[in-house]
Amino acid sequence: KNVSPTILLIFGATGDLAKRKLFPAFYNLFLEGRMPKQFQIIALGRRDNDSEKFRDYIKDNLNEFSRNKVDSDEVWEKFSQQVTYFKHQLDEEESYKDLEKELKNIDEKFGVRANRLFYFSIAPSFISTVSEYIKKTELAPNADQDRIIIEKPFGHDKASAIELNELLTKTFKEEQIYRIDHYLGKETVQNIFTFRFGNSIFEPLWNHNFIEKVEITVAEEVGVEERGAFYEKTGALKDMIQNHLLQILCMVAMENPNSFEAKEIRDKKVDVLRAIRRIKPEDVSKYAVRGQYKEGEIRGKEVVAYREEKDVDKESNIETFAAIEYYLDNERWQNVPFYLRTGKRMKEKQSYVSILFKSIPSNNFPGTENMLANRLIINIQPTMDIRLQFMTKKPGLSMVLKPGEMVFDYNDCSSADSPEAYETLLLDALLGDPTLFMRSDQVEEAWDVVASIQDVWENETAPDFPNYVAGSLGPEASDLLQTKQGYKWLPNTIE
Ligand code: BG6
Repeated sequence: KNVSPTILLIFGATGDLAKRKLFPAFYNLFLEGRMPKQFQIIALGRRDNDSEKFRDYIKDNLNEFSRNKVDSDEVWEKFSQQVTYFKHQLDEEESYKDLEKELKNIDEKFGVRANRLFYFSIAPSFISTVSEYIKKTELAPNADQDRIIIEKPFGHDKASAIELNELLTKTFKEEQIYRIDHYLGKETVQNIFTFRFGNSIFEPLWNHNFIEKVEITVAEEVGVEERGAFYEKTGALKDMIQNHLLQILCMVAMENPNSFEAKEIRDKKVDVLRAIRRIKPEDVSKYAVRGQYKEGEIRGKEVVAYREEKDVDKESNIETFAAIEYYLDNERWQNVPFYLRTGKRMKEKQSYVSILFKSIPSNNFPGTENMLANRLIINIQPTMDIRLQFMTKKPGLSMVLKPGEMVFDYNDCSSADSPEAYETLLLDALLGDPTLFMRSDQVEEAWDVVASIQDVWENETAPDFPNYVAGSLGPEASDLLQTKQGYKWLPNTIE
């Protein structure tokens, strides 16, 4: 598809996201020939700077963070000439008027009214100011040409998400608002969809008759790094479960869409969120577990406890780990537990989905002491593969069983590097395809799903914090969540 001429305006262009993710994504799209034939990136920042200096800064960052480095002066010249720095004050009307003049000049140069893509890579507290000025100065008047991309956190609870949606819809129509959850741009997350609906052998089994339990793990090795101040107001439930993990859950649990239209797919996902049984406040301790890391070791290196991190309270009650057992009240998933867990400073960085099928009905099969139920493992990152575990006979004179596996490994694919999540999402936003972005009701419903846990955790201190050693698999209580049902957390490879 041809992408219409576009002006990309990045608010917060000197920030961390722009340097690590956005510019590398634009550069890689450019190398792939996916950027519009006519485009201009306007990097907005409040400090004095000039475009030449800014381009040098971007070049350095690309060489550090991009999957393709800058290795051709000619290509770099072509790309960088389409990047300009624009000094801009977020809270001054004049500054938006100047911007409008700049946009008009570019339109004139292009010979058409270009699409406008506004990227809000700014602190949540600035969103209302920026969107009000955009409205006042009529920077985004065309609903079918002008879009905004907005980063998480999208609110901090259901009420604030509703408020933010109301505020944004004063300036933009819902179809102009692209709310990013970068997990949806990950190749392996998108493949869950293809795997389910592009193959006929799994979908008939994809329900409570054949599936025993589902697990979703997003384990990180990193701690809170430089983001202590942000994290102190956030925690794992709001930072990861409400968005990334629930979105993966939606991909695993959604019904078959009738078409591949954005609306249909998003509707089916909202249905999943609606079906998730809300945990009653008095049951939160039964179904949800929180943890906070102590000091420990990651890959042989000593790391400090969360409470010793920069900008973190010495008595912080914030969780850096969360595990939850959810049930879905719908036909397909009745009584199938969905276990979600995520944590910082865990043993190993690995995100994966594990689908455990029911055991064979009778256990009079010889050699069953080694019998394992079938399992499908979808490794999201950094290992990227899909594994199906099944039983085989160990060659020999007696009947001894052993597990075998079939593996699809992304590294075996012929295409070179797979695109990064931001490349996929930015291209979709340029094309005007909102499928992989969050609609307002998805965000609000996802907040509703975590609301009771959020309330209890925010209002009751965790007496056992800190409760897991950095470099471990999380607190013991997270194991108990499963052992009480006769299960255990399963690894991302066959056992
Ligand atoms: C972000 C969270 O949304 O996702 C971070 O705010 C987290 O705390 C990050 O580290 C994880 O993303 P990825 O792509 O590295 O798994």
